[in-house]
Amino acid sequence: MKRILVTGGAGFIGSHLCERLLDAGHEVLCVDNFYTGARRNVAHLMGHPAFELMRHDVTFPLFVEVDEIYNLACPASPIHYQYDPVQTTKTSVHGAINMLGLAKRRRAKIFQASTSEVYGDPTMHPQREEYWGNVNPIGLRSCYDEGKRCAETLFFDYHRQHKVRIKVARIFNTYGPRMHPNDGRVVSNFIVQALKNQPITLYGHGEQTRSFCFVDDLVEAILRLMATGDEVTGPVNLGNPGEFTIRALAEAVIRLTGSSSQIEFRPLPSDDPQQRQPDIALARNMLGWEPAIGLEAGLVRTIAYFDELLRNDAA
Ligand SMILES: NC(=O)c1ccc[n+]([C@@H]2O[C@H](COP(=O)([O-])OP(=O)(O)OC[C@H]3O[C@@H](n4cnc5c(N)ncnc54)[C@H](O)[C@@H]3O)[C@@H](O)[C@H]2O)c1
Repeated sequence: MKRILVTGGAGFIGSHLCERLLDAGHEVLCVDNFYTGARRNVAHLMGHPAFELMRHDVTFPLFVEVDEIYNLACPASPIHYQYDPVQTTKTSVHGAINMLGLAKRRRAKIFQASTSEVYGDPTMHPQREEYWGNVNPIGLRSCYDEGKRCAETLFFDYHRQHKVRIKVARIFNTYGPRMHPNDGRVVSNFIVQALKNQPITLYGHGEQTRSFCFVDDLVEAILRLMATGDEVTGPVNLGNPGEFTIRALAEAVIRLTGSSSQIEFRPLPSDDPQQRQPDIALARNMLGWEPAIGLEAGLVRTIAYFDELLRNDAA
């Protein structure tokens, strides 16, 4: 049994990770400032004897006794990370420094939730880990993209300079129950709009493609990455390579919810990548992993979650 710190543990991915770690018999310290996360995401874990929830902002140092750290704290959707861009960069950069400092002192292994956004608007498809990216350093998304890139730099420098054991994953679009209902991310947006029978807002012509990974698949990959030998540092792409146009996603959501919603087209925001598809060859070889849950099966479970959430909110 290990003592494991999960930063951003009350968020979407973090809450699923906390669950899996508790199921595996570990002690979990969930740290979150509830910026985008919510107590309700971990409410079902509160009675668990091995679970502890702490309100804390990772931009400030933290001194706790832990064996492993999963660093997920960071708003992940453009609406939230652009709301306070300076805080977003601080969360990525100061958060990484504080968590790496803790890992160094405790000799703890540390995981970083990096992102496909480090590839920016890629000129190479699909993106492999060797690709350095095509990132605008001064745009509206830069607080997130460059913050995460700097965090990766810090992880590798702590590894080279201080021998910290690191595991860096570049996560591609992930979806599932407990996504924030108002975060403007495409899957949650479409589902909430469809359940309310409102128009489905589609940016551009809907021909831009995305790959969508169900959260259970992603958490499985994160756990496998953490279990690899110390020589494995990443970065490793984690995502589902199945590629869908945004328009096909909208149509699937309308069909699966039985909604009467119509698709409404809007202008494309700046710096929105045209295509985003992970090359997961490295994860396949190294982790013996690949996503097992198809888009339709994942959407059904996500729709069920949002349906209940909206009913409770309305009650
Ligand atoms: N969901 C995706 O598709 C995706 C894709 C790529 C990378 N990621 C990364 O995975 C991680 C988790 O993403 P998510 O989708 O669960 O997002 P989320 O917003 O649901 O979770 C992030 C959590 O971090 C917390 N947080 C934010 N700033 C903090 C701070 N300064 N101190 C402490 N806690 C703070 C939030 O309150 C929230 O609970 C993030 O680092 C994100 O960048 C997610």
